[in-house]
Amino acid sequence: MIQKVLVKADYLLKWGEELEVISQGELVIEEGFVSYSGPTLQRNNENFTRIIKGENKLVMPGFINTHTHAAMSLFRGYADDMPLQEWLEKRIWPVEAKLKKKDIYWGTLLAICEMIRGGTTCFADMYFHMEEAAKACLESGIRASLSQGLVGMDALQGIASLEEGKKIVRNWHGKGDGRITAMLGPHAPYTCPPDYLRKVAEVADSLQVPIHIHLAETRREVEESVQKYGKRPVELMEQIGLLDRKVLAAHCVHLTQEEIQTMAQKKTAIAHNPGSNLKLGSGLAPLADFLKNGVLVSLGTDSAASNNNLDMLEEVRLAALLSKGLLEDPTLIPAVEALKLATFNGAKALFLEEKVGTLNEGSRADLIMFKLNSSHLHPLHGIPAQLVYAALSSDVEMVMVNGNILLENGDLKTLDEERILFETGKISSRLVNY
Ligand code: NI
Repeated sequence: MIQKVLVKADYLLKWGEELEVISQGELVIEEGFVSYSGPTLQRNNENFTRIIKGENKLVMPGFINTHTHAAMSLFRGYADDMPLQEWLEKRIWPVEAKLKKKDIYWGTLLAICEMIRGGTTCFADMYFHMEEAAKACLESGIRASLSQGLVGMDALQGIASLEEGKKIVRNWHGKGDGRITAMLGPHAPYTCPPDYLRKVAEVADSLQVPIHIHLAETRREVEESVQKYGKRPVELMEQIGLLDRKVLAAHCVHLTQEEIQTMAQKKTAIAHNPGSNLKLGSGLAPLADFLKNGVLVSLGTDSAASNNNLDMLEEVRLAALLSKGLLEDPTLIPAVEALKLATFNGAKALFLEEKVGTLNEGSRADLIMFKLNSSHLHPLHGIPAQLVYAALSSDVEMVMVNGNILLENGDLKTLDEERILFETGKISSRLVNY
């Protein structure tokens, strides 16, 4: 039998040329695809498998988190208030050395529980033992773009990790009815020397997958790049030819005007991570300048070890508020723009062939439903401003990916959350002993 679901809502948000806010809207979902998206129609004798009524609800495309390291949720709260380099060297790398393969599976599931609950329907992940992360994604029903983190500081290590990266692409790209895609993930210019990055770019060409990399995250990274190569990280990437490929660059906090223009010309996608950049004291990425210059910007949380949550609505709010305050201009990054970064732009930044992030007809049914009848959302004058400035991620009541319900009435439908909390509790106490 064909699965045909009708989802109604007081408000339906979808992306055409602009954001469309449809009051009394509805979606028809057939076999995971949106077949109707618009105002409520008079429907007679239509056979729906299920009707979701949506009174006092708002439906919109799910959030797309374009930069995280999901399994690092195991280290949430373990290393706080430290500079990035010290945080990595003294805290994170030593515990990562103790990680076993299966830990990645459970850690990723922990992150997925949190992401689904907060309305994230798709995420880009970079870590290691990604085979385990992929299994977690497959089971959970979430959409994900996965990349093995590649490090090329010595030749042998570089070759081994590139082999792992290729394996993830070959084994997982397109799996789960297209929900799982893959990228190559050279960690950063400071852990992947130029020759190695050239090799990664060639492999990306032959496998026809995009590249996911950390770029210009801290001032120190930029200074060291200039000392070592005589070039800033973005200049170096341009010289290597990396930016001629499809690239998702995380952070890009320290960019010159010229570099911003390069990112726009090369159509490099940026994953802007305001929460992580603030907490690690890395600085504030020039978001308003990115957008003014036509750079494709999306939003990410980075990991729960540096954020410390995977709450996309919080990133949306930070993205909107920071530029206003910093540049003393409340008209910068209006609510609509902030929401676009987290949905429409997210899908573009992941170079997804599947149509997601819009809820237009023909797209995949990746959607979330917000509960509206709460005191903190009442009265409801402005949408989407209320969503951006007042809503909480815990207002997300229903989550659907590929037409499958992953969260409903507070219950995760595909995951055993109690077991996941139990297993990850055991793992984190094994990893972290003070
Ligand atoms: Ni990161």
